[in-house]
Amino acid sequence: MSNKAKILVVDDEESLREICQDVLEDEGYEVVLARDGQEALRILVEDQDIDIVISDLRMPKMNGLDLLRAVKERKLDVDFIVMTGFSTIETAVQCMQLGAADYLPKPFNIQHLLVKVQKVLKARNEKQERKRLSNVVRMLNLSSALNNQLKLKPLIEEFIKHIEKNFNPSGLVLFLKSDMGRLVKTVVKGNTLRQREDIFSLIQYKSSIALRERQSCFMDKYTFNLSKKGQYDISVMIMPLISQSQEVGVIALLREDNQPFTLQDMQLLSIFASHAANAFQNARMYSKLQDFNKDIIRSYARAVEAKDFYTRGHSERVASYAVHLGISVKLTDNELERLYIGGVLHDIGKIGIPDHILNKPDKLTDEEFDVIKKHPVIGREILSQVYSLKDVLHLVYYHHERLDGTGYPEGIKGDSISPLVRILSVVDIFEALTSDRAYRRALPLHKVEKIMFSKAGKHLDGELVETWFKLVREKGIDVLRREKR
Ligand SMILES: [Fe+2]
Repeated sequence: MSNKAKILVVDDEESLREICQDVLEDEGYEVVLARDGQEALRILVEDQDIDIVISDLRMPKMNGLDLLRAVKERKLDVDFIVMTGFSTIETAVQCMQLGAADYLPKPFNIQHLLVKVQKVLKARNEKQERKRLSNVVRMLNLSSALNNQLKLKPLIEEFIKHIEKNFNPSGLVLFLKSDMGRLVKTVVKGNTLRQREDIFSLIQYKSSIALRERQSCFMDKYTFNLSKKGQYDISVMIMPLISQSQEVGVIALLREDNQPFTLQDMQLLSIFASHAANAFQNARMYSKLQDFNKDIIRSYARAVEAKDFYTRGHSERVASYAVHLGISVKLTDNELERLYIGGVLHDIGKIGIPDHILNKPDKLTDEEFDVIKKHPVIGREILSQVYSLKDVLHLVYYHHERLDGTGYPEGIKGDSISPLVRILSVVDIFEALTSDRAYRRALPLHKVEKIMFSKAGKHLDGELVETWFKLVREKGIDVLRREKR
C-alpha cells in the first residue's frame, strides 16, 4: 500500500523538485510538484488524496511554516515533512511543534529522504488503521443501539444522540418523509438553524435536492455575506436516508466554528445514514403492523359486544384503564402492550355464551351463572389458536380470579395471581360498575369507590385499588377512557 502513496513536493528550486520526483517515482510513489506554499495549498484543497507533503521552508508567496498552518487550520488529512537548511532550523522546530511529522536537514542524500518517507508513511498507515477501527466501533455502537429499538420516537432520539457525539455539529436538522410524500422537519438543533432563516432555507433546499437526486451534498466552506458583520462561513454535510430504494428522509449537519467537516466525516455519516434509514423504515412498518393487529383485535372484541348492547365499548375502556394503571405502577412497554391486548380480549369467550343469558335483565339462576363462568375458558380456547397471542392467554383465563381464592375458573389465590391479572381485575370491575347494565344503571363514583374498597385485600389488590382511585381523582374518567398509546 505504501508504494502507492501520493506525495506533494514543494520547493522553489526546480532542480531539487526534479531530483525528488525522479527518486520517489522510481520507488513507485505518485508525485505532484508545487513551486511555493500558495500553489501547494491550492493543490491540497483540490486533491484530498495526497498523503505526504515534503516542503521547503523558505519560499516566495507562502513559506513552509504558513503552508503548514493553513493545512492544520483546514484540518487537511496530510502528513508533513519539512526540509530545512541550517538557517531555518528554528522554524523547523516551530513546524514540529505545529504537528509536522518529521524534518529533513539540507543538504540531504536521497537514501535519507526515502527512509524518512517510509517512516512517516508507516506511522500514517497505522494511524489510519486505528481510525478505521474506531469508525467501525462507532458504527457498531450505533447499529446495536438502533437494532434494540422498534419505536420511531426513541429511535430518532438515539440516532441524533450518536450523530451529536460522533460529529460534534453546531446544528443539525432531520427531515423525514411523511406518508403523503412531504418532507417534514422532525428535529432541529442549534441556535443558528433555529434563528437564521436564510441558512435554514438553504439547507432545506439542498436537502430536498439531495433526497430527490439521492446524492449527498458536501460544502466545506459556504460563505454568507452579512450586511454589517462581514462574512460568515459554514460547513455543511447533507445525507439522504434511503432504505431498500425507499426515500426515508434527510439528515443535514452544520458547523460554523472554522472546523469544516472532512471527507472522512462524510463517509462515516453515509454509513450512519444507511443504518438509520433501515431502522426508521422498520419502525414505520412495525407500527403499521401493530395498528393493523390492534384493528383486528378490536374487531374480535366488537364481535362479542354486538351480542350484548350493554357491554358495548366495555373491552376497549377496560384496556385503556388498564394501560393507565399499568403506567402508574411503572410497567414496561412490553407489559403495557400485553395488558392492552389482554384488556381488549378479556371477555372474548362470551361469544360462546347464549344471548338470552348474556342479555337477561333479571338475576341469573345458579345454572345460568355457571354458564357465564365458562367465558374465560372459552376465551382461552379460542385465542390459543393464535400464536402471537400466547402471552395474553393467562390474562383472559384468570381475569375473574380473586385474591382470597373465591374466583373462577381455577380458584387460585394470593401470589399465584400475576400483577397484570390483578390490574385487569381492578379496572374490569370499575368499568362494569360505572356503566349501565341490562339489570341496573351505572353507579355514581362515590358508591363504586365504596364497593371497591370493601373488596380491597379480599377480592382485589388493595394497593392497586388505592392507586386507581388516586388516578381517577387526578385525571377524571374521561381522560382515562382515552387510549394512552
Ligand atoms: Fe369477564
